Amino acid sequence: MRETIPVWDIWIRLGHWLIVIGFFFQQISGGDAEYIDAHATVGTLLAGWVIFRILWGFIGPKYAQFSSFPPPNPRLVTKSFKRILTRQSEEVPGHSAIGGVAVYVFLTLILLTALTGMSSSDDILFDGPFAPLLPAAMVSFAGTVHPILSDLLLVVVAVHLIAITWHVIVMKEPLIRGMLTGRKHAFDQEPGDPHAFSRVIFIRGFIFSLLILSFTYGIIGIYLGW
Ligand code: HEM
Ligand code: HEM
Repeated sequence: MRETIPVWDIWIRLGHWLIVIGFFFQQISGGDAEYIDAHATVGTLLAGWVIFRILWGFIGPKYAQFSSFPPPNPRLVTKSFKRILTRQSEEVPGHSAIGGVAVYVFLTLILLTALTGMSSSDDILFDGPFAPLLPAAMVSFAGTVHPILSDLLLVVVAVHLIAITWHVIVMKEPLIRGMLTGRKHAFDQEPGDPHAFSRVIFIRGFIFSLLILSFTYGIIGIYLGW
């Protein structure tokens, strides 16, 4: 059994599995008038997760921090891609160059999908919370773009799943177990980040999750008329 080191803190892991559930719920509920309130609520919570993840990229533990991602320059991303194709391990505990870019793409797409949903209206049953504040042309544009963005997100998720399957089956790197336990295989002298499992990180994440949850709850409450 190879040695493992601490990498992903509880908030990265919990957040990841919650957005997986939320994302699949959005795909099923989107466009169904009967579930529009639930769809809008879960979509707003997903936007709340994006805000949390951006904040966590600055105040979270080492491997959650954007400063620990390799710079997203095309040369490094291509190199990272070639290594994966030739089945050479990246030998980095956190995100590789290509993995870091994937995180930025996910954050941008989820936020834009949620924002366009919040700006759209069907003129009958549903008005997104931003729709009454925007000119009619923008509301109509948001309604057109929202399904396009959610389809784009679906494509990115499919690529993500292919990449994870490749790592797990072909490269024998148990990344899914890593996202469940927080521990990944050790490389060279890399000690990992024991701070990721510390009480300070747990409490800091808890406080910021509560703050962002109350904020999203407030927004949802306004437009669902609670
Ligand atoms: C990341 C979050 C979200 C995802 C992945 C998502 C996904 C989807 C999908 C797949 C559809 C069906 C599109 C179709 O019929 O082809 C849809 C429709 C819809 N969504 Fe979302 N949605 C999200 C967030 C939101 C939010 C936050 C709101 C409102 C607050 C919202 C409001 C709507 C409305 C009104 C429709 C029906 C009208 C339309 O097709 O534009 N969505 N969404
Ligand atoms: C069952 C489906 C999924 C599985 C098995 C899965 C698995 C994983 C694994 C193993 C990682 C860590 C990769 C590493 O160690 O470098 C990861 C990261 C990530 N995944 Fe997924 N994933 C799934 C679905 C999704 C979906 C649906 C989304 C978004 C809508 C998503 C967004 C992300 C993001 C943003 C990260 C980076 C984590 C962070 O830094 O916060 N995943 N995923």
